[in-house]
Amino acid sequence: MEVRAAVHRDFRIATIDDRLYSAFIEHMGRAIYSGIYEPGHPEADASGFRKDVQALVRDLDIPAIRYPGGNFVSAYRWEDGIGPVEERPVRLDLAWRSKETNRVGINEFAQWAREAGIEMMLAVNLGSRGLEDARNFVEYVNHPSGTYWSDLRRAHGVEEPYGVRMWCLGNEMDGPWQIGHKEARVYGRLADETAKALRAITPGAELVVCGSSNDEMPTYPDWEHQVLEECYENVDYISLHKYFGNNSRDTLNFFAKIEETGRYIQSVAGVIDYVKAKKRAKKDVFICFDEWNVWYHKRAEDKERIKRWNWPEAPELLEETYNFEDALFVAGLLNEFIRRSDRVKIACIAQLVNVIAPIRAERGGAAWRQTIYWPYQMASLYGRGEALRVAVDGPTYDCRVADDVPYLDIAATYDRAAEVVTVFAVNRHLHEPIDVNVSLTGFDGLGLRMHKTMQGHDLLETNGPEAPDRISMVPGASVAVEDGHLRGKLPALSYHVVRLDVGRPGGRNG
Ligand code: AHR
Repeated sequence: MEVRAAVHRDFRIATIDDRLYSAFIEHMGRAIYSGIYEPGHPEADASGFRKDVQALVRDLDIPAIRYPGGNFVSAYRWEDGIGPVEERPVRLDLAWRSKETNRVGINEFAQWAREAGIEMMLAVNLGSRGLEDARNFVEYVNHPSGTYWSDLRRAHGVEEPYGVRMWCLGNEMDGPWQIGHKEARVYGRLADETAKALRAITPGAELVVCGSSNDEMPTYPDWEHQVLEECYENVDYISLHKYFGNNSRDTLNFFAKIEETGRYIQSVAGVIDYVKAKKRAKKDVFICFDEWNVWYHKRAEDKERIKRWNWPEAPELLEETYNFEDALFVAGLLNEFIRRSDRVKIACIAQLVNVIAPIRAERGGAAWRQTIYWPYQMASLYGRGEALRVAVDGPTYDCRVADDVPYLDIAATYDRAAEVVTVFAVNRHLHEPIDVNVSLTGFDGLGLRMHKTMQGHDLLETNGPEAPDRISMVPGASVAVEDGHLRGKLPALSYHVVRLDVGRPGGRNG
């Protein structure tokens, strides 16, 4: 099977916002407790944070992290998590029927995020609470001093304000399962008023209003339309969430959910444009895809387990074990985010540790990288700069969720300063290799800098504590550069990251 593709230096989609490679972590299951934080663990630092987990996180170079939820935030009292730890109340977490001990709160998490080199993106509770508590939280976090909440923060040992710029106005407020679920217009009004208050405290705040919980919600896309009509001028992003699965064991259909996601993004972008036109607005609203991942292996089982349990503390929950097929899917989805980076500015893998996560950590034991860690890391490390258009001419397939799905899933980025083009490619064909020929025009030179690949595994193969590196990115040897073209053979079901020096030979990269 042959695929021809073309890239030109000046045919750009957008400058990629680094925050396209952000993450999400929630107070649920073992994400925080015995995930990032486990006092007494042999790898714990003086504050109780696990250094082994932290090292795996740091290697991802994550720009921003959304916290503390998720469904959890909609009944969360943020002030339960400040002040002396021994005085903090234990509460019922209504979202996950668990006990929340509040041993980690905003100040502990901020310390962890700072040490991991990640910017915080905080969510306020617009479910069980509202504007008043949201403004208090922002004042505690961002106001320098001289007021009740800012001085309380200082009394808690944090002299300087955190200066958090990204704020999420609640979570999945369209979902009937959400504590404090609301109708679109009611939520839109509340988001608008809360945005106003937050901006009064932090004028440069970037605010994310809740879109639909997914594109299968009965209220989608009227929800987006009505919510944006109420708050368009006061928000900067609208959120999208989507989780994926292959319950029917139909790999090609599973992969095509990436095309379906492209339609979802395009439709929400259309709603944004409609409201913008109707309001005669000048400002833009972008997309914040702040929850995405594969989530299906244990989803139904976990749903039943939650109903039966009796408010446990940090229970094992949503601990999906990811396979090779999931890694290929995640690679393709990240390609889609690059291809849509003109509209999607922020995206968060959901979640980061233990709970539907690229990193797993056993209580008292080892931490390891799941299969999906690798494509996420590749995109985060190398998918920065400008997204380039890739014109593709090659075979396609039809399936239940989409037609004309290309077997080769490809995206390209251009780091102008480093003079490097990176090509991310997935051969989704179940049996046939692809002979690929990518022409690169407009560049001064072309040299192969790096080829890494993930291939040759059974689709159901996984990593685990006994074999943490069974599936990983390894050096590839099946591509070459000749006469302004990148040529190579991509085996069936394989993922490739190819980095090309595009400066003048003998120049900076020569
Ligand atoms: O990430 C798990 C849950 O999925 C989040 O709490 C919620 O926002 C979504 O439904």
